[in-house]
Amino acid sequence: MSVNKDIKRVTVHTLKSMKEKGEPISMLTAYDFSMARILDEAGIEVLLVGDSASNVMAGHETTLPITLDQMIYHASSVIRAIQRALVVVDLPFGTYQGNSRKALASAIRIMKESGAHAVKLEGGYAVQNSIRRILKAGVPVMGHLGLMPQSIYKFGTYVVRAKEEQEAEQLRSDAKLLEEIGCFAIVLEKIPGELAKEVAKSVSIPIIGIGAGPDVDGQVLVTHDMLGITKEFRPRFLRIYTDLYEQITNATHQYIKDVKSRDFPNEKEAY
Ligand code: KIV
Repeated sequence: MSVNKDIKRVTVHTLKSMKEKGEPISMLTAYDFSMARILDEAGIEVLLVGDSASNVMAGHETTLPITLDQMIYHASSVIRAIQRALVVVDLPFGTYQGNSRKALASAIRIMKESGAHAVKLEGGYAVQNSIRRILKAGVPVMGHLGLMPQSIYKFGTYVVRAKEEQEAEQLRSDAKLLEEIGCFAIVLEKIPGELAKEVAKSVSIPIIGIGAGPDVDGQVLVTHDMLGITKEFRPRFLRIYTDLYEQITNATHQYIKDVKSRDFPNEKEAY
């Protein structure tokens, strides 16, 4: 097991020093108390209350419908479970773009009402005023560049981003800008590994990849994908560690069988 027991409580400073030491950062999503407790006790460093809750928990096709109230509900459930991990919460679509006052109000609601430790939002140059304002209020911000699911209708598809030089150049300068204005880390989603490597080398803050190759400072996956609970989502970057869909199905079949045959409950399971 490779959990660093010296780290009692993960902070944004812990992540910076992990990058400096070359120690990879592990991050997974969590949306509820029970799962968050398992992941935290297993030693994960960062838990992301991602707006992927919109897909995974609520069954929407995109991340766009989830609301700030719903994100706060998920985040406060996660916060009640954790003892060690840093908890980062996504600002949902429509709560930070365009109006930096609104962005600050959204971030403050998340921090105050859920007890989370940081927020994440998608974009670089276009949302810099929002990021600056949130940072000025003392709220740590994680950036998110590359494939940005909140912009899916602009991109049109979920294909690899920044393959063309112009988009790659924009991403390089957005990453530099996020570092300069004070973000504590950046998620890079679904971009060529060589570009992610270059960006990770060029900035002093941790770069956490998802579909961004091995040469970054940490990795993040959607927990339900890596546990094999979601069935339809099988991108090349996803490693599936267990097949919980099958295990839960088998357990449910057995339960139904036991109920139908009156095997359950037995004498010891009754009062
Ligand atoms: O919402 C989410 O789960 C995310 C990860 C894919 C990084 O933003």
